[in-house]
Amino acid sequence: MTSWRFEVNGERVEVEAPGMHRLLDVLREDLALTGTKEGCGEGECGACTVLIDGAPVDSCLVPVCQVEGAAIATVEGLASPSPEGPVLDALQQAFLDAGGAQCGICTPGMLMAARSYLDAGGEADEAAIREAYHALMMKLHPDHGGSTWLAARLNEARDVLLKSRR
Ligand code: FES
Repeated sequence: MTSWRFEVNGERVEVEAPGMHRLLDVLREDLALTGTKEGCGEGECGACTVLIDGAPVDSCLVPVCQVEGAAIATVEGLASPSPEGPVLDALQQAFLDAGGAQCGICTPGMLMAARSYLDAGGEADEAAIREAYHALMMKLHPDHGGSTWLAARLNEARDVLLKSRR
């Protein structure tokens, strides 16, 4: 076994694992970050999306040996700690307010894809969001998933999405 060092949600971690162990499994099993979910396990659905150095990736396809030294963001890192408990990120709140929970398996991946989209300067524009989400998230819920829901509820979420930019 080899030790791998990287950051997760701003904290340095070190994990001993075979190099080809999936990042998804390392996050869930070695680091107990179970917010990232497995859907297809084949890089098709996007449910396991996390950010590596800001870029959205399917963590089921990434071996841990490829994230040495990288900065990884998972859904657990969106909320901020407070004495009263975690405070939802504005994007999480927008999803909550607009009823965007979906089935629960893909929501963390949708949130991370949306965070990446906004951090990259994406506009809260219906056509642009549809296009971005089709590329990332539309395989799991083709009829009522990410882009369809987000676009349909955009009027409710638009102001919060824009405010949530970091
Ligand atoms: S579980 Fe990784 S893309 Fe579906």
